[in-house]
Amino acid sequence: MTRSENNGGFYITTPIYYVNDVPHIGHAYTTIACDALARWHRTAGHETRFLTGTDEHGQKIEQAAQKRGMTPIELCDEVVVNIQKLWPLLEVSNDDFIRTTEERHAKVVQYFFKTLLDKGDIYKGDYEGWYCLPCETYFTDAQAGDQRACPDCGRPLTRMSEESYFFRLSNYAGKLIAHYEAHPDAIMPKARYNEVLSFIRGGLQDLSVSRTTLKWGISVPGDDKHVIYVWLDALVNYISALGYPQPGGLWETHWPNARHMVGKDIIRFHAVIWPAILMAMGLNPPVRVFAHGWWTVEGDKMSKSKGNVVDPFEMTELYGADAFRYFLLREVPFGNDGDFSELAMAHRINSDLANDLGNLLNRTLQMIEKYRGGALPADGCLACAKETDRSVALAADAAIERMKAEMDEFALDSALKTLWTLISAGNKYIDETEPWKLGNKGRDDQSEPEGRLDVVLRTLWEILRLAAILLHPFMPETAAEIWAQLGLDRGAFSSGEALLSRWQWGRCPSPVIVKKGPVLFPRIDISKWKEEKARRDAAKRPAAEHPSVVPVAPAEKFGEISIADFKKLEIRVAMIERVETVEKSDKLYKLLVDLGAQKRVIVSGIREQFSADELTGKRILVICNLKPAKLRGITSEGMLLTAEATKGGKAIYALATVDDNVPLGSLVG
Ligand code: MSP
Repeated sequence: MTRSENNGGFYITTPIYYVNDVPHIGHAYTTIACDALARWHRTAGHETRFLTGTDEHGQKIEQAAQKRGMTPIELCDEVVVNIQKLWPLLEVSNDDFIRTTEERHAKVVQYFFKTLLDKGDIYKGDYEGWYCLPCETYFTDAQAGDQRACPDCGRPLTRMSEESYFFRLSNYAGKLIAHYEAHPDAIMPKARYNEVLSFIRGGLQDLSVSRTTLKWGISVPGDDKHVIYVWLDALVNYISALGYPQPGGLWETHWPNARHMVGKDIIRFHAVIWPAILMAMGLNPPVRVFAHGWWTVEGDKMSKSKGNVVDPFEMTELYGADAFRYFLLREVPFGNDGDFSELAMAHRINSDLANDLGNLLNRTLQMIEKYRGGALPADGCLACAKETDRSVALAADAAIERMKAEMDEFALDSALKTLWTLISAGNKYIDETEPWKLGNKGRDDQSEPEGRLDVVLRTLWEILRLAAILLHPFMPETAAEIWAQLGLDRGAFSSGEALLSRWQWGRCPSPVIVKKGPVLFPRIDISKWKEEKARRDAAKRPAAEHPSVVPVAPAEKFGEISIADFKKLEIRVAMIERVETVEKSDKLYKLLVDLGAQKRVIVSGIREQFSADELTGKRILVICNLKPAKLRGITSEGMLLTAEATKGGKAIYALATVDDNVPLGSLVG
């Protein structure tokens, strides 16, 4: 199959994420961007498929599992859940989720390996390089440097050689160059295209595609001593998930339309190694590899040690998935690096969402309700139409065409800017036509014909209807809410299908009764927000980092007790297994804790202090013999221990936790 057989469909993939890390803004960004593209193409009626998943093999997982006294698959099964539960929260509409530890994947990786071996594109040889024994990793001459020291741990390197299988990457330089010269949009943005092309022109070396030092991976068929190189294993996910090479599998329809979205750091794997492997297999290379930029946070590189990792669970909880999605996709030209600032997000919510979008909806529906009892006026009065109505309609059609072109280029930020020109045109149209004057004019006022207000209201309603359709890929929930408030069928909208025939001006069913609902995006009070943010930041940092922190309760507050009194407390080590919010409460969580021999439900008022993600998986201390209490109808069977202090007059909290190696159920005392 060749590229020219691309059948107009759209198959988009995210990188598969390592499971040894908690999901952060980088993962959310790629996935949300793919989601917007997938939703856009579904709306346009293209045969669409969207894949994401996890990369679960390799040394890091092997070592992390060993540390925790688990098998690698036990660890993967535990942590994959963090990623899988994030996507629905972010309204990600992936059609499939692949894990590289699944059988359906492993057998395709082995099929690739065997086919390439049989064809002579993979051969056995000796790998020689500078080896770091403690890190179990090879380095090239350049990486080893003059000091011959490990770039990771600094220890001396040893020259070693071992048997390895190699992929004849060197054979594919010419074919890759020819391919990219013929398809200049196969790598985007342009700067990445140039970078990759000049890398290939510099010549390609054969690639070692097996390891004997690694155990946790897919073994080379017929040679168990070797495990297949993790990147070869990982890349194959894009097609193993489509049921390749089964005849009639999804791959036959979707593979010719494959587009990979990746971060700029992994472009070479996707735009050099992967297409060469595909060519060797007789498959078409991806239609496009798009490399987006990296996020820093408030000007700083994001890292766990700096404690500045942006947690998508927290952002969603605080601002809602749609506002977070909007900010990520709008703030930075797609392809460039960007800086994440929560303050910038709060400002953008106020200006673009509360002001521009929210006001247009609010004002329009308010006037339809006030002047027409909520019924959308019929569109009949040609004599009442004016040039300004026609130019708004033309602007809307032009915006749609422009957005189509921008979405083809993956220019997500530009597409949103274009959409906002339509929303701004709507607000400007209200200011120009002054519908309140038309609505309030006396019977004797002949300055405007009777039907003029109908035309104006209908034009505004129509702008919003189109805006909802165009907004849907970026902010699915908000768009559906606008649709419903316009008096249209929310269910049909959410399925996406119904939008197809309706994205030209004037395709409106009648009669329609609008249903004005709650404000879409309440304005954020920035000075209150700043106080709240400072409190959150303080609560996140460990107390040791705050010399100014003072304990809340001085010891003298408590009277003396005997050891016997203390011994009455049954305090045990537990692990927080699940965290749920309690309905109609801002403060309470319902926690399921594992005490080893049993599990219990604890209702705890710590929701303002800790996100669900911060709690899940933590080993904590629980008082088990407190009399059970009912909170909001839920029986709480214990209490967890937290430390409380104040900083700058504000309370800050920390959980009392114990190391992961303390067995669950251990008695504390
Ligand atoms: N497992 C490999 C991909 C294999 S694909 C066959 C991997 N995983 S990862 O979890 O480390 O990274 C996934 C993606 O997150 C990469 O595309 C990476 O660029 C992206 N990001 C990681 N940190 C990022 C930012 N700070 N900003 C934006 N994206 C970043 O690599």
